[in-house]
Amino acid sequence: MSGHGTPIPMTSHRADPLTGVAEVPGDKSISHRSLILGAMAVGETKITGLLEGDDVLDTAKAMQAFGAEVVNHGGGSWSVHGVGVGGFAEPDQVIDCGNSGTGVRLIMGCMATSPISVTFTGDASLNGRPMARVTDPLALFGAKSVGRSGGRLPMTIVGAAAPVPVRYEVPVPSAQVKSAVLLAGLNAPGKTVVIEKEATRDHSERMLAGFGAEISAEDTEEGRVITLTGQPELKPQVIAVPRDPSSAAFPVCAALITPGSDVLVPGIGLNPTRAGLFYTLQDMGADLTFENMREEGGEPVADLRAKYSPNMKGIEVPPERAASMIDEYPVLSVVASFATGKTMMAGVKELRVKESDRIDAMARGLRANGVMVDEGDDWWSVEGMGPEGVPGGATCESFLDHRIAMSFMVMGMGAQASVTVDDGNPITTSFPVFEPLMKQLGAKLESGGQ
Ligand code: S3P
Repeated sequence: MSGHGTPIPMTSHRADPLTGVAEVPGDKSISHRSLILGAMAVGETKITGLLEGDDVLDTAKAMQAFGAEVVNHGGGSWSVHGVGVGGFAEPDQVIDCGNSGTGVRLIMGCMATSPISVTFTGDASLNGRPMARVTDPLALFGAKSVGRSGGRLPMTIVGAAAPVPVRYEVPVPSAQVKSAVLLAGLNAPGKTVVIEKEATRDHSERMLAGFGAEISAEDTEEGRVITLTGQPELKPQVIAVPRDPSSAAFPVCAALITPGSDVLVPGIGLNPTRAGLFYTLQDMGADLTFENMREEGGEPVADLRAKYSPNMKGIEVPPERAASMIDEYPVLSVVASFATGKTMMAGVKELRVKESDRIDAMARGLRANGVMVDEGDDWWSVEGMGPEGVPGGATCESFLDHRIAMSFMVMGMGAQASVTVDDGNPITTSFPVFEPLMKQLGAKLESGGQ
């Protein structure tokens, strides 16, 4: 059932103090977008710092299948020779996006206004996730889709031969949906307008502007109104991908709960639509500081310093912050277990349709490790056990979800007894060097069982 091969358990024993520098890989969201927009530009886009995780590699293969020339020059340096907006060829084979919701949804968007038919599939996790949120707006452009019941993959999309621009209000806070509509709008004549009630990550907008598209965003009473003028000629770019704040979250949180730790995580993208976790940790009383704030490639960047923080308090995480830290709730719930008092996380229904139902997956694992969790449809809360009070000792399921697997590995670093996940393979989707990087800081991780 897994798209990741035979499950390989991974165990995290109580860690030595975590110290040193954690150079986490490139941003996953920006890496996908670099390859896709590179493929839609005319000429050669050069990318450094690309995340070479499975999710992004699947997107690179997809862009090749559409006719772009994608070359890996080694060491995170890649080039994409694009075919131009409207220049995609029909792939000969099924496009397999593996575990990646971002990959499949963005690629559906970018092909939906070209006269080609494309069949998409993924692993067991991706094939269970909802796609109607993307195919509904793509139908307004004139694209047709046929998938399995519940709008699930495998699915074929027949792109619109004569697309029309659309005005679309995104019904759920989702950067993937917003981005799919904007990418489809690239090959529709006239102005495509996307309205989002809550601001989600804006990498697509920033990068579209960087590639020379005419795009504007305005905050109004309806929400953020984004207007894109279709059929531009995108100009190839030189892109330095910043390091991923969602990956930085793991060494940062591990340092906060592991006695004696002091870790520097340099060059982290701190785009305000992504940085919510770090402000939440500071609100809890974490010893987390931003050093050397600067701007790189149009994105704010800083070096994060995280030290062991035995005095953290449970808080109510502001629901309006949810979109800016949506992928970080699993690891936040681990930190909350080591705080004193209750942490309440509300307005997070989207967590139920990620690579796994992340509320359910974390609640099961936290409870198995001796932590009390309460949950509702769109909220959950964690009862903190104090800095030395988390029992641990359990084996948790990772549900084909990289962030669930890494979160429980972080928990084992500060818990009284070792924590195991049934399958550590999914980690390679977003953070292929997680195990050596964390070990080099002082973590005691073991692949292949206890
Ligand atoms: C992403 C958007 C988010 C996030 C995902 C990456 C993106 O998903 O969870 O990991 O790159 O656009 P949603 O758009 O479904 O919230």
